[in-house]
Amino acid sequence: MGDIHTLDKSELVERYSKLEEKYAEFKSKNLSLDMSRGKPSPDQLDLSSDLFSILNTNTLKTVDNNDIRNYGGVDGIREAKDLFAEILHVRPAEVIVGGNSSLTMMYDTISRALLKGVLDSDRPWGKLPKVKFLCPSPGYDRHFAICESLNIEMITIDMLDDGPDMNKIEELVSKDDAIKGIWCVPKYSNPEGITYSDEVVNRFATMKTKAEDFKIFWDDAYTVHHLTNEHPHLKNILQACKDAGHPNRVFIFASTSKITFPGSGVAAMAASEENSQFILEQLSAQTIGPDKINQLRHVRFLKNLDHINEHMKKHAELIKPKFDLVLRELDSQLGDKHIASWSKPNGGYFISLNTPDGCAAEVVKRAAEVGVKLTKAGATFPYGKDPKDRNIRIAPTYPSLAELKVAIDVLCLSVQMVSIKKLLND
Ligand SMILES: Cc1ncc(COP(=O)(O)O)c(C=O)c1O
Repeated sequence: MGDIHTLDKSELVERYSKLEEKYAEFKSKNLSLDMSRGKPSPDQLDLSSDLFSILNTNTLKTVDNNDIRNYGGVDGIREAKDLFAEILHVRPAEVIVGGNSSLTMMYDTISRALLKGVLDSDRPWGKLPKVKFLCPSPGYDRHFAICESLNIEMITIDMLDDGPDMNKIEELVSKDDAIKGIWCVPKYSNPEGITYSDEVVNRFATMKTKAEDFKIFWDDAYTVHHLTNEHPHLKNILQACKDAGHPNRVFIFASTSKITFPGSGVAAMAASEENSQFILEQLSAQTIGPDKINQLRHVRFLKNLDHINEHMKKHAELIKPKFDLVLRELDSQLGDKHIASWSKPNGGYFISLNTPDGCAAEVVKRAAEVGVKLTKAGATFPYGKDPKDRNIRIAPTYPSLAELKVAIDVLCLSVQMVSIKKLLND
């Protein structure tokens, strides 16, 4: 088939009408497929079924003899703090184990910053005329939704091959004290699957910020979510910040949502001990403590980092074939046409596809018209607006392989049709 840019107008028209025939065939099938959100498939959820039976009335005490059925322990049970400390490569005293969602912890952290300020604030962020966050993009739509709902102005930062554009970030944070934070998904980023290089981590830790209370929201959601046996190394941001003399600069977040059960997992955050103590003081006005029963059963089930890595291999066995299928089809259907590029992640939950500029929204619309739901175009950018209208997030984990094949066929077909239409109209 080859590069569509080498075709003349009549060849393009001919190609388009062939694709239209295929599109009509898909339409007649009344498909209903959903690739819009990164959810584990039912067989992945089955991997954690033991969670339902792992606790009984003889196992209700924590290592330090606290009854998990009762109030108390605002920072989480000791063994859960130990487990997250191992996962996040920090000390247990630097960990606060929370409820069922890290996103809630992020939202609450920002809400408290707006209402009360963070450790180094001279006043609550909400008392300032403007608060701005940097948003490496494409990124995670729900991070951006938090900012939008709390009236925080978002500034888009380009993602490069080894993390966000640090030149731009350093320039902006050094000049503008209204910039109070940045969102980062440093390992297997959502949606591109990029892991930040050591240099990027170092620059985050050492950069000069005009705001003394600038915070990095380091969402390590995919820290153990490897697809292959090659695990990229992510430099320890908390240690790097300490070494650079900025120990209180970073809040780290993670959860077991995609290790066990999304919505019924355990979330945690980590920060310097001083930072954690500051947060705990505020937090104890908010709650008497998290769900310790869920924390204990997770610790009993997940045990330690080695055991989690074994468990994650079982996830990978189920989802790697899905990633492989998507990548194979993208390659065979679009590889030689010079109309799209895509990420080839070694972990995480997504593949990021770039269409020609100005085409993503139309591609998503066309796929939806034949029953294939994709993540909304623009969702991976602040305010839901992709300035180049080209990025589409593919979430391959939930559908079966058979469903995925059809969904990708529709996606590739839609990309080709919209790209040709654009060429014909240009
Ligand atoms: C980067 C990132 N952070 C956080 C979450 C949600 O985490 P939780 O279920 O712990 O709220 C997701 C879910 O897709 C995610 O992709």
